Amino acid sequence: MFIPVPIGFIHSPYTETSSIPKGLGARHDAEGVLEIGSEFETGLTDIDGFSHLYVLWLFDRAHGFELIGAPPSDNRPHGVFATRSPRRPNPIGLTVVELLRRENRQLFVRGVDMLDGTPILDIKPYLSSIPNQALRRGWLAEAESAQ
Ligand SMILES: C[S@@+](CC[C@H](N)C(=O)[O-])C[C@H]1O[C@@H](n2cnc3c(N)ncnc32)[C@H](O)[C@@H]1O
Repeated sequence: MFIPVPIGFIHSPYTETSSIPKGLGARHDAEGVLEIGSEFETGLTDIDGFSHLYVLWLFDRAHGFELIGAPPSDNRPHGVFATRSPRRPNPIGLTVVELLRRENRQLFVRGVDMLDGTPILDIKPYLSSIPNQALRRGWLAEAESAQ
């Protein structure tokens, strides 16, 4: 295994988890800035051409994990790997953000759902080749249709 080193930190409008939209129909339109460490800036070369990015980050303020839990979008419990819970064995978050612009080592993005100061582990271009009709949404589809 390796010891992860943050490549940067997220500037987010959210300082408390309670202010981050949750549950069915939650929209993530908040803007934030991914500030990348100067030692990693060269790695941002050519990122400007991508509209969306995957951001891998650390749930640095989560405590412990539970293998079964009830997410805010359903009243039934589900396995942690069938949810996006912060309380997971390896506390890694994954968010797709829209890249608005880059200024040197700052990426201005839309769609943050992380707390201010969250460490960034990695960034990759978002490329999806899976057609909508091939996607199944599991228990979430049932929760949405029961709404
Ligand atoms: C449901 S998780 C989903 C995160 C990401 N989109 C994912 O799928 O991995 C989002 C929640 O994580 C919590 N959260 C955000 N930043 C966090 C941090 N740095 N440490 C611990 N919890 C955090 C907030 O409660 C937020 O509503």
